Amino acid sequence: MNDVHRIIQERQSTRVPFDPNRKITREDLQQILDAGRWSPTAHNMQNFAIVVVDDAEVLEIIGKVKSRISEEFLRENYEQLSFSKEELLEKKTGILGAMFPPSWVDPSKMAEVARESAPMPLTQSIRGSPCLLIVVYDPRKRAPASAGDVLGFMSLGCVMENMWLMAQSLGISLQVLSAFAAPPVEKQVKQVLSIPEELRIAYACRLGYPTGSTKYLRVRRDIADFAHYNKFGNKGI
Ligand SMILES: Cc1cc2nc3c(=O)[nH]c(=O)nc-3n(C[C@H](O)[C@H](O)[C@H](O)COP(=O)(O)O)c2cc1C
Repeated sequence: MNDVHRIIQERQSTRVPFDPNRKITREDLQQILDAGRWSPTAHNMQNFAIVVVDDAEVLEIIGKVKSRISEEFLRENYEQLSFSKEELLEKKTGILGAMFPPSWVDPSKMAEVARESAPMPLTQSIRGSPCLLIVVYDPRKRAPASAGDVLGFMSLGCVMENMWLMAQSLGISLQVLSAFAAPPVEKQVKQVLSIPEELRIAYACRLGYPTGSTKYLRVRRDIADFAHYNKFGNKGI
């Protein structure tokens, strides 16, 4: 296995708390940003800006922004869940329901949970991270002839993956936080960081060094499950 393959396989989502006192050095940060810089983007538009937040006071203010869980999220999240390790290993896609509070994974309670739950401060998502990368884009600049700007969004995904692999290679853990892109959260975070009105948050990444075990069951389909040779449906090599 070459180094790239090893880092691709070792990269994972790290959802445990990070050590707030173990900062990401500016040298490491530069390397992660440089990996983002060299990402492929549609038409080389480089349709992104990244707001680095590593000032403890700013992190604290962002941590106070509250986020609400939506019924849409709960219902669509449920579709991706398995309720035992065996089920997940069999399905080979999705995640374990045990990663979420029990009331989030009970369809009979989802409407009530979405209606009644107290909004959660982002500090519960940031979980001690000493550094956030907030990736923003300008929705007025779509990739040429790309319906829904799908090519623009793919480009933002390339930035994510490049930075994630670089962080992994430096021994730095990362978790993507989509909650930052949800409209009410996005609006407040943009205000805190003086992000211009016309830009949108695509996602945030929290970086850091984990305080506990990061191991969890990760599954993938086999190549034979998605690869077709010369004609869709032809599984022979
Ligand atoms: C566009 C995108 C959004 C994601 N949003 C979140 C998120 O909000 N929270 C989270 O914990 N993981 C998030 N993830 C991570 C995926 O859940 C994760 O990559 C997937 O379950 C596979 O697990 P692995 O990263 O450990 O290989 C996101 C990943 C992508 C590509």
